[in-house]
Amino acid sequence: MSDAKSSPAGAPSTFNLKSWLILLAVVVPLIVTTLLVVLVLQKPFAPPVNVAEQERALAERIQRVGSVAMREATRELQTGQQVYQSACMACHAAGVVGAPKFGDAAAWAPRIGAGLERLITSTLQGKGAMGAQGGGAFSDFEIKRAVVYLANAGGGSFPEPVAPDAAAAPAPAAPAQ
Ligand code: HEC
Repeated sequence: MSDAKSSPAGAPSTFNLKSWLILLAVVVPLIVTTLLVVLVLQKPFAPPVNVAEQERALAERIQRVGSVAMREATRELQTGQQVYQSACMACHAAGVVGAPKFGDAAAWAPRIGAGLERLITSTLQGKGAMGAQGGGAFSDFEIKRAVVYLANAGGGSFPEPVAPDAAAAPAPAAPAQ
């Protein structure tokens, strides 16, 4: 039996043809069915997903540019306390991830000793687990205010920063003589 099959004459080619036919008969319908299923499943779902995704991405791009423009043009500068509450409290209220805790004089003393400029630079650029601007999107002046607010709560006595506009404007208090 096995001798007859492995005979070099015609047996191998018969075997090959048969197996190809069987393979085709099984595999081709399988592939066609799979493709049909994939087509049927994708048709109704794929385009809406893509459109929604594109619209979301587009909206995000437009919204970002828009909100930045709005922010710069119309919003009031936030106080140190407002910035602290919206962006810094998450870490500094409880002192998570190694952040010096709000009001903790012992934790703040060495940092205050390094000077206000040092603290502002750290906050603007990020330090350790703290991202740049503490992860927020503020003006440098607002960050400065928040740093002073935070540092003074921890025992510092830095003066309240002067708003850039007020600093640039001619001092109205100077009496004309
Ligand atoms: C993700 C948590 C996190 C947020 C949010 C965060 N901080 Fe921090 N902050 C830290 C950590 C951690 C340190 C200590 C970094 C170090 O010394 O390695 C730190 C340190 C500081 C320091 C001392 C820097 C120095 O040089 O010693 C200041 C000032 C400060 N943060 C201000 C702020 C202000 C202002 C905000 C909000 C705008 C803010 N942080 C938001 C985690 C945070």
